[in-house]
Amino acid sequence: MNYVQRVDQCLDRVLSNQGSLTEAMRYSVLSNGKRFRPILTYTVANTFGANLDLADSSACAVELIHAYSLIHDDLPAMDDDDIRHNQPACHKRFGEAQAILAGDGLQALAFEVLASDVQLSTKIRIDLLQTLTHAAFEMAEGQSIDLSVAAQTVGIDILQNMHQKKTGALLGCAIKLGALVADTCNEKELQILGRFAANIGLAYQIQDDVLDVLTPEEILGKKQNSDADKNKPTYPTLLGLEVSKIKYENLYQRAFSDLDTLDVDIVQLKALTVKLQSRKF
Ligand code: IPE
Ligand code: IPE
Ligand code: MG
Ligand code: MG
Ligand code: MG
Repeated sequence: MNYVQRVDQCLDRVLSNQGSLTEAMRYSVLSNGKRFRPILTYTVANTFGANLDLADSSACAVELIHAYSLIHDDLPAMDDDDIRHNQPACHKRFGEAQAILAGDGLQALAFEVLASDVQLSTKIRIDLLQTLTHAAFEMAEGQSIDLSVAAQTVGIDILQNMHQKKTGALLGCAIKLGALVADTCNEKELQILGRFAANIGLAYQIQDDVLDVLTPEEILGKKQNSDADKNKPTYPTLLGLEVSKIKYENLYQRAFSDLDTLDVDIVQLKALTVKLQSRKF
């Protein structure tokens, strides 16, 4: 069973009994997301010797927060996008109010899944919860900045901070959760993973901005040129497409260099970084 199948099985299990919210929550979570955040959690956990059973709750929790962020991101009050994962956005299928509540429900469920994982020690559970709640807050703050700068010309520092928060924080969290469940990383390894996370976190959103311009809806699974339609400042609008591509390629190169400084088997993490770097949607 690969990591995507593994997290899909866990998500299916935890999303079985949410009463009147079950349908909308399952609709959004169990559509075809790429699952890069849970894959990162499993890969880091495995790299540092964890039993993967201990990583299941973290992998699920980070994807639940991600799915919630996408439902709210698509709402008319935010990006007002109608298509996600090649299907109508949650609010187009269930209405705005139910979509808001499905997002609220997913966020709460993420914390519940972690808090109730009795395989993990209380200390690790609290560390995981603290890491996830912090990232969920940073994501919301990044989204707040994103909306407040629409139609404005902003400098690269503001854009970078916004990207690090709205997208980098949760990707970094996925990595840290994997390290926390393994419970074998020393201070130096945690620092290296932190640098690796920062590099791929920023790269991932710059790439998302570039893909938004270049990739047709059938491949992207969401609307092309969504950013331009809402007059969002992005890396391509500020720096141009070519410089933006060079920028994220450089960040991935730095991420590879970070991995080279680890004293563990980095084959899986390198392969995953190649997958992130070469993604087409
Ligand atoms: C989309 O993320 C929104 C960002 C934070 C860039 P993904 O591209 O990882 O979302 P999935 O794979 O469709 O779930
Ligand atoms: C979203 O950024 C980041 C989130 C926290 C959801 P975008 O608004 O660019 O994501 P897409 O392009 O709609 O997936
Ligand atoms: Mg957005
Ligand atoms: Mg969006
Ligand atoms: Mg985008």
